[in-house]
Amino acid sequence: MTILVTGGAGFIGANFVLDWLAQSNEPIVNLDKLTYAGNLETLAGLQGDARHTFVPGDIGDNALVASLLAMHQPRAVLNFAAESHVDRSIRSPEDFVQTNVVGTFRLLEAVRAYWNGLQSEAKTSFCLLHVSTEEVYGSLGATDPPFTETHRYEPNSPYSASKAASDHLVRAYHHTYGLPVLTTNCSNNYGPYHFPEKLIPLMIVNAMAGKSLPVYGDGMQVRDWLYVKDHCSAIRRVLEAGQPGEVYNIGGWNEKSNSEIVHTVCTLLDELRPKADGTPYSTQITTVKDRPGHDRRYAIDASKIERELGWKPAETFESGIRKTVQWYLANPDWAAHVQSGAYRDWVQTQYAGTAVA
Ligand code: NAD
Ligand code: TYD
Repeated sequence: MTILVTGGAGFIGANFVLDWLAQSNEPIVNLDKLTYAGNLETLAGLQGDARHTFVPGDIGDNALVASLLAMHQPRAVLNFAAESHVDRSIRSPEDFVQTNVVGTFRLLEAVRAYWNGLQSEAKTSFCLLHVSTEEVYGSLGATDPPFTETHRYEPNSPYSASKAASDHLVRAYHHTYGLPVLTTNCSNNYGPYHFPEKLIPLMIVNAMAGKSLPVYGDGMQVRDWLYVKDHCSAIRRVLEAGQPGEVYNIGGWNEKSNSEIVHTVCTLLDELRPKADGTPYSTQITTVKDRPGHDRRYAIDASKIERELGWKPAETFESGIRKTVQWYLANPDWAAHVQSGAYRDWVQTQYAGTAVA
């Protein structure tokens, strides 16, 4: 038995690969295009491990995907590959349409052809698990109930619109062709190996570098936060016991404003790595121009996955954020290496004229 994972050199995909191989001997074929967000250093511990086969390439390369499926005969395909950063989608939406929409479509075509050729038991037990986001549901008002799986799709950014399109294609391949699919819509993840363009790792690495901590607008936007290893355990559970054609929302029941998140990170750093001059890290917080079309609030109702599959997050926000800050303090080289020339160009464009750049 083998599984094929796409995007397994990115933040969540790599955490998934590492967790999977720590708990199982089932081999993984890992297809990743190695964009700026893909990082083989995260997987360095798997060098020489015969259970992990890394293949550089694009999910939109139909011939490559078809040959990998034919060669490795996976029992499941897990699609993590995506362009994932909202701010980048505002500046360069084309990449998001290419990978998230066209790439997912081509992956579905290759998987459908492979699945059609499978025999009896292999065909019945096969599935494609599509990893998606709560952002497809749009933005909530302060007192609205959290997103359930039947919430209407109302994506507001090019990122969420492209993910919504991919979810619709996955759904259509189930309804039209009978392809066994599972879709998961998860809230904001945080944890080890998170690229420091996203809120939590950016705040940690900037704080340590003595740079500004840029909060968009009034900082009162709310997100639900889930420790990445909890997301990985939820995906394993959905793969194991999810019903084909079903959608599962995954969340941490941890709604926090951005301002609260940034202050929590600062307080932990004050405790774990106090500044030599005794000033608190919160003095580095600055307000910067808001993101255009910024969604005000996301919140996930994760009761379906708990009720039907018995999954619950293991970490509280307090335990998860402490582990995360500790991880970045213990692994400064990882963060330094991903902050390459291309990363510096991004920071200069996105935060032009502020002390962050
Ligand atoms: P990421 O940006 O860290 O990693 C994406 C990975 O996909 C990278 O390794 C990249 O090289 C690879 N990739 C990009 N385009 C590709 C292509 N065309 N072919 C093959 N590989 C390609 O993203 P992430 O945060 O790990 O997110 C993984 C998935 O989870 C995405 O589908 C995202 O929409 C979803 N998701 C993310 C979050 C979050 O908080 N990060 C929350 C919910 C859902
Ligand atoms: P982000 O980590 O980009 O995830 P998403 O947009 O997918 O939720 O951002 C999380 C929140 O933090 C979002 O409301 C935007 C905000 N934010 C800042 O205030 N400053 C920053 O520098 C970044 C990157 C994000």
